[in-house]
Amino acid sequence: MYDIYEEIIDLTRRRGFIWPTSECYGSVAGFIDYGPLGAMLKRRVEDLWRSFYVYQEGYYEIECPTIAQESVFIGSGHVKEFADKMVQCPHCKEFLRADHIAEAHKTPNAQTMSSEILARTLMSLPCPSCEKIFGPVEVFGFNLMFKTAIGPGTQRTGYLRPETAQGMFTDFQRLLRFYRDKLPFGAVQIGKAYRNEISPRQGMIRLREFNQAEAEIFVHPMQKNHPEFSRYRDYIVPLYSMNEQNNGLSPKKHTMDAAVKTNIIANEYVAYYIALTHELLTKLGIKEERMRFRQHLRDEMAHYASDCWDAEIYSDRFGWVETVGIADRTDYDLNAHAKESGKEFKVFVPFDVPKTKKQLKISADMGKLGPLFKVKAKLIADALKDAIPGETSTRVIVEGEEYEVPNSLFSMKEEIIELRGEEVVPHVIEPSYGIDRMIYAVLECSYYEDEVEGETRKVLRLPARIAPVQVAVLPLMNKEGLDSLASELNSRLRSNAIFSVYDDSGAIGRRYRRHDEIGTPFAVTLDFDTIKDKTVTIRERDSMKQVRVNIDELETLIPGLIHDKIQFESLL
Ligand code: GAP
Repeated sequence: MYDIYEEIIDLTRRRGFIWPTSECYGSVAGFIDYGPLGAMLKRRVEDLWRSFYVYQEGYYEIECPTIAQESVFIGSGHVKEFADKMVQCPHCKEFLRADHIAEAHKTPNAQTMSSEILARTLMSLPCPSCEKIFGPVEVFGFNLMFKTAIGPGTQRTGYLRPETAQGMFTDFQRLLRFYRDKLPFGAVQIGKAYRNEISPRQGMIRLREFNQAEAEIFVHPMQKNHPEFSRYRDYIVPLYSMNEQNNGLSPKKHTMDAAVKTNIIANEYVAYYIALTHELLTKLGIKEERMRFRQHLRDEMAHYASDCWDAEIYSDRFGWVETVGIADRTDYDLNAHAKESGKEFKVFVPFDVPKTKKQLKISADMGKLGPLFKVKAKLIADALKDAIPGETSTRVIVEGEEYEVPNSLFSMKEEIIELRGEEVVPHVIEPSYGIDRMIYAVLECSYYEDEVEGETRKVLRLPARIAPVQVAVLPLMNKEGLDSLASELNSRLRSNAIFSVYDDSGAIGRRYRRHDEIGTPFAVTLDFDTIKDKTVTIRERDSMKQVRVNIDELETLIPGLIHDKIQFESLL
């Protein structure tokens, strides 16, 4: 039976996009190699992401280690909380993800069920591995982080990072200085993340080592209006809100402005990055009808998040796949690291106009305090400055001990003080992209088969901007000077940062098919007219139409075509 997934996997292996890792030893589930074309495709997808987050948004990119010391993940909560629910099949002994099994059997809310209820649900279900009914089983938490030891011996525990985000939180103070102490600011990071997934059976969708592109945008907690919101105010996106999910309705299209005004989306920042993500995914070639933005349900949303949306892409094989998460994480992460590290994660925000405030000034009478509290008197006097006075006496805590100080031992005076600003813990808006899932979606959306001259033509209709090979340079024959003209053209294109490939092997039709299959958007053919009048043909992959141009025009035409500045149709 024809299976598009198998066709794509076959193509990606044969043509050097994606390979199973360390195949000669038997590959390991959850790990893949990007082959020559895959690595190039990945780099181009990341560069498109950069064109939005670094060039458009102006957020600088940083690079942190992929291993971090244990305290980082104690602070972030991953050591305690980052676990999936696991079950071991009593028959075949395979370890499996309990909620995924329940989900596959249409159990609602399996992801948020307690271990006890999941165990009860699994009792009557078959094991996906050996197909025997589970019967009584135990469901338990399995922490997904890979643990390691830093340095010789095992004195220092480290973990491979399960997300790139934490580096941006732990670098917060340095980033704040870099951005000259002003909110809002953002940092981005593209890199590897690691999760010891329990049973990764979905190819590139669930990996143990994968690639993330994340932005952490630090904003004033009371100012969640994006300064550039007008860019996406009227942008329309299909939203699958809590309301639609709870009432069995379909996603609805909204402008970002309407979605914020009607409180479907919590604030402009979240709406802005939903629209930006939609635009970015469209540029990657993901079709409108395969995209939706699903809001997390109340019991699915992290307790600290005030709003969270997943960009989901429809896969013929896997159904709706979460590919990007966009969340308002509030001040959770910065407070958590402040608590664990004992450092301050705050920003001083000056007021436009200084404010005044009435304040009670308490001054201790050391002559009376000294004889009563002896060595602690000075500390008690300091603590009194911030105390709230009682009716006759005032309580203060010094070095963990409580002291009751009679009000007769100090004087109180109301004074007016000037406030120049306030200290705030910023909130974090986080768009988090899974690069591998994006690449899989791109491959599935761009794969086509059509018929040319009675033969099936396999085509990857990749947007020109992300195609690994951008131009195929094809001399009609490798003689009579055509080959040297073609090699010269190839070098000229490459010296202009256009990745072209010289190919003179086989009939021209075969060469076109070879390049169609790897998504090369343009093929330049040199024939005998090229020798006479310096003209060549440019063939466009999808329409297979050809246009004749002067060879010297290619250095400007090709970049224009790749970056959508020139439409191929306009050349015809
Ligand atoms: N910092 C937030 C965060 O990491 P997440 O939803 O756990 O959020 C973000 O991950 C994205 O990373 C997901 O939307 C997905 O695209 C990708 N991702 C997560 N786990 C993955 C895995 N095991 N294999 C491949 N991609 C994964």
